[in-house]
Amino acid sequence: MTVPRHIAIIMDGNGRWARERGLPRIKGHEQGAESVRAVTEACVELGVEFLTVYAFSTENWKRPADEVAALFVLLEHFIAQELPVLMKNNVRLAAIGRIHELPESCQRALADAIAQTAANTATTLILALNYSGRTEIIDAVRALCADAAAGTLGEIDADTLSARLYTAAYPDPDLLIRTSGEMRLSNFLLWQLSYTEIHVTEKLWPDFGKADLRAAIAEFNKRQRRYGGL
Ligand code: FPP
Repeated sequence: MTVPRHIAIIMDGNGRWARERGLPRIKGHEQGAESVRAVTEACVELGVEFLTVYAFSTENWKRPADEVAALFVLLEHFIAQELPVLMKNNVRLAAIGRIHELPESCQRALADAIAQTAANTATTLILALNYSGRTEIIDAVRALCADAAAGTLGEIDADTLSARLYTAAYPDPDLLIRTSGEMRLSNFLLWQLSYTEIHVTEKLWPDFGKADLRAAIAEFNKRQRRYGGL
C-alpha cells in the first residue's frame, strides 16, 4: 500500500455534530480537536510525513464573536495539552496563514510549541490558521513584486511562485479529505491541490477517526494518478 506523503483535511461538520446532540457549537469543535489528535497519531503510525488541517479560515472571522473567541481558546488549550503528546510521538508542529493577525496569546503559544517541536522527525502537523488560498497567493505575489522592485527577480515560473507560498517547505498534498459531504475547496490550498486526489466522506469531522483515515488511504490506493499525462 502506498502511504500518501502529505494529507490535507477540510475538517467540516463540527456544528452539525453538536446540533444533532442539542449541544452548543463549541462542543462540536472540542470533539473535532479530539479527531485532530487521533488522526495525527494515525499519521505517525502509518508514516505520513505531512498532515495539514484547515483549523480557521480567513472567512471564519464572519462567525459570531463568541464562537471565534471560543475557537482560539480551544486552540490554545489544544496546544498546551498536546505539546507533551507531540513530543512523545515525535511530531513537529507548524502553522500556515496570516499568523501575525491571530490573538497575541495564541501566537505566543503557537510559536513556543513550534520551537519546542522543531527537531522532531515523524509527522509534521501543519495548522492552517487565518488561512485562505487566495490570501496566500496574494502574499506570494506581493513578495514577487518586492523582489522585482529590489531587482532580484529573474524568470517567473511555477517554482518561483511556489517558493513564496506559506507551504514553500512542504510537498503538495497527495490526498485531500473533506468530511460532512460538502463538495467544495472552500479556499483551501488552491495552488497546491492542482493534482491532489480528493476523498469526500459523509462522516462529520468529530466522528472521523483512525479507521476512516485508513479507509481514505485505501481508496487513494485505487486511484491512478496521471498528472495530466496518459
Ligand atoms: C468546520 O465545522 C470547522 C471549523 C470551522 C473549525 C475547525 C476546528 C477544529 C476541528 C477544532 C480546533 C482545531 C484544532 C487544531 C485544535 P463547522 O463549524 O463549519 O461545521 P458545520 O458546517 O456543521 O456548521
